[in-house]
Amino acid sequence: MALTFTTPNSHSRILSVGAYRPSRIIPNSEIVDRIDSSDEWIRERSGIESRRFAGPDESVISMALAASKQAISRSGLSVSDIDAVIVATITYPFQTPSAATELIMKLGNPKAAAFDISAACAGFCYGVGMAADLIRSGTATNVLVVGVEKLSDFTDPDDRGTAFIFADGAGAVVIGKSESAGIGPMIWGSDAESRDAILMTPSWIDLKAPGSVGWPDISMQGQTVFRWAVYQMAPVALKALDVAGLTPETLAAFIPHQANMRIIDAMAKSMKLPESVAIARDVRVSGNTSAASVPIAMDALLAERPDLHGKSALIIGFGAGLVYAAQAIELPQAPK
Ligand code: UT7
Repeated sequence: MALTFTTPNSHSRILSVGAYRPSRIIPNSEIVDRIDSSDEWIRERSGIESRRFAGPDESVISMALAASKQAISRSGLSVSDIDAVIVATITYPFQTPSAATELIMKLGNPKAAAFDISAACAGFCYGVGMAADLIRSGTATNVLVVGVEKLSDFTDPDDRGTAFIFADGAGAVVIGKSESAGIGPMIWGSDAESRDAILMTPSWIDLKAPGSVGWPDISMQGQTVFRWAVYQMAPVALKALDVAGLTPETLAAFIPHQANMRIIDAMAKSMKLPESVAIARDVRVSGNTSAASVPIAMDALLAERPDLHGKSALIIGFGAGLVYAAQAIELPQAPK
C-alpha cells in the first residue's frame, strides 16, 4: 500500500541571525614577522586588515553557544522550540560525540536532533539547505544552524599561505516555517578531483605512530583555490538566483563566503551585480572564518544596513573538498 501523509509546510525562512566575535583583535602587524610578510601585502592580496583569534577561554562550543543564544533570543522562540541542531565546523577537536550534541546540551534542550556537517567553508550553506528541506518535509519545526570555527587551533602561525587568512568566530540562524518562500533551492556540489587543494594533515592515525610529533594543520594551494572560486563560483551563484526567480537587478544583498576581498569583488563583477546590491565585505575585519563566515557577515551587514531586514540575499559558501553550496534567501525580519 502507498504511504499516505501530507507535507505540512510548503516554505521555510530564516527567522533570526546571531554572531559571536572573539574579543582579541589581531592586526596584520601581529602576524607579519613570523611569515616574512607586510601589512601592505596582506591588505592588497586579501583585503584583510585585522581578524579575531579566540583566547584560551573561548572554545568552539562557547562561541557557538553565544551566537546561538543571540539568534534564539532574536527569533522570539525559546530553546525548547528548537527540535534540530546542525553545526557546521571543521575545528571541533573531537570526532565524536558531535559539537551539536554538546551545544544543545549546554543550551538546555538535550532531546533535540543534533549532528555536525564537515563541508568546511560551504558547511553553513549546506546546513541552511538541509534545514529548509527538513522543515518543508515536516521532519523538523525549528532548526538551529550554526557555523563555528576556531581555526587558530589548526593553523600553523609560520605558514605564509594560511597564517594571515584564517580566523575564529561563530554565527547562527534559526530557521522555521513560513507562509511565503524564504529559502530558495540549494545549488550545491563538489569538485572533489581538487580535494588536495586544501588539506588538514597529518591524520590522527599518522600522529598515533610511535615517536611521531606534529599536529593537524590546514595547508592550502592558494592560487588553485583562488582561480576555482573566481571562475567557478559566479555561475553557481547566478544559478541559485535563477532557480529562486531572482536576477542581479532584483537582488538586495550578496553575502558570499568571506575568503578574500579580491574573490568577492571578482564574483560581483562576473555576476554583473548592479550598484544597488549591498555586498558583505566583513573579511576586512574578521578574516576567513570558514563555516562561520556567512552568518557572521550576515549579522554585520544587517547591523550596518537595518533596512535590509526582510529583503532578498544570495548566500554562497565554497572551500575544502572542494565543495560549494548557494541559495537565495529572504533576510530575517528585524528582531522585535
Ligand atoms: O576559505 C577556503 C577557501 N580559500 C580561499 O578561497 C583562499 C583562496 N586563495 C587566496 O585567497 C590567495 O591565493 C592568497 C591570499 C592565499 C594568496 O594570494 P596570491 O595572490 O594567490 O599569492 P601567491 O601565492 O600567488 O603568491 C604571490 C607572491 C609570491 O611571490 P613571487 O613568487 O611572486 O615572488 C609569494 O612568494 O607573494 C608571495 N607570498 C607572500 N608574500 C608576503 C606568498 N605568501 C606571502 C605572504 N606575505 N604571506
